[in-house]
Amino acid sequence: MPLIAVLPGDGIGPEVTTHARRVLEALDLGLEFQEAPIGGAAYLAAGRPLPAETLALAKKADAVLFGAIGDPRFEGLERRLRPEAALLGIRRELGLFANIRPATLFPGLEEASPLKAEVVKGLDIVIVRELTGDVYFGEKGRRTNIEGLRQGYDVMSYNEGEVDRIVRVGFEMAKRRRKKLCSVDKANVLETSQLWRDVVNEIAIEYPEVQLTHMYVDNAAMQLVRRPADFDVIVTGNLFGDILSDQASMCAGSIGMLPSASLSAWSGANGMYEPIHGSAPDIAGQGKANPCAAILSAAMLLRHSLVNEAAAKRVEAAVGAALAKGARTADLGGSLSTTEMADAVLQELV
Ligand code: IPM
Ligand code: MG
Repeated sequence: MPLIAVLPGDGIGPEVTTHARRVLEALDLGLEFQEAPIGGAAYLAAGRPLPAETLALAKKADAVLFGAIGDPRFEGLERRLRPEAALLGIRRELGLFANIRPATLFPGLEEASPLKAEVVKGLDIVIVRELTGDVYFGEKGRRTNIEGLRQGYDVMSYNEGEVDRIVRVGFEMAKRRRKKLCSVDKANVLETSQLWRDVVNEIAIEYPEVQLTHMYVDNAAMQLVRRPADFDVIVTGNLFGDILSDQASMCAGSIGMLPSASLSAWSGANGMYEPIHGSAPDIAGQGKANPCAAILSAAMLLRHSLVNEAAAKRVEAAVGAALAKGARTADLGGSLSTTEMADAVLQELV
């Protein structure tokens, strides 16, 4: 019986994760669920954002269903005790180097995007973001410089092995889709990016069927609002991927629609699945959150960790069908509550 670790976390995390779990249960696949605290919730309960028991459960599980972390009450804590430390810690501990963030515009949501409908129509892109390296995990600290000024530093670096494995995920993804891969870097300024670009070009030889382009990150940010539907797969480092994936979410109507998968291997391995929206403390506990990103994350869990493509498609189709019938939470311009939206999806689950 596959074991699913459920880590609801903070803010709207618990509200949306409940419904993702309901959808998985409704499929009747004989899954076992075990819940554990993480983030600010775990700090309050156990004094640490990532308790050893939570990490052990995540490691032993076949997949992790994750809500969100982050709570302004803990912003003043030292960095290792803040909720974010739990997310970065679990990514590193589980070796989740490949973050897959699809941005798909469901038909009918064109008007929900702040961009013009004709610009976002047909949007179907995947951002493949490296997740366990880059400036996120480099040496960081504070020092006093030679002029006596306080200085903060975070080292950006990638080794060729780290670049190689994530870029291959990008090529494999593109190969299965429209066969276009855009690698995003800042090679005109950063040496880390030049190495990245060199490795991409070396691997490209093995994928002659994939059309490869390179783009500087500033240009990519511009093209994402100018002609987002032209992109197929984007592969990029941790920091650039963080920024571009939030931007891409607006092309897809609402950040409340975007799921993600964080994987330690291309398929069949354990992985962590989470909506890309954060904990949204401003709307937490009000029943306003859109559960679709969490539900679509459950679909990705079925696809990548349980290798059950049919079940994944059923869930995605149910979300599409509910939207087609007009079901909308506030972020999509509607008035349904979190539970009502999830109910609408469950009703379409055939
Ligand atoms: C994300 C988030 C995290 C990140 C934060 C919460 C640490 O923004 O998953 O995109 O920067 O990776
Ligand atoms: Mg982010």
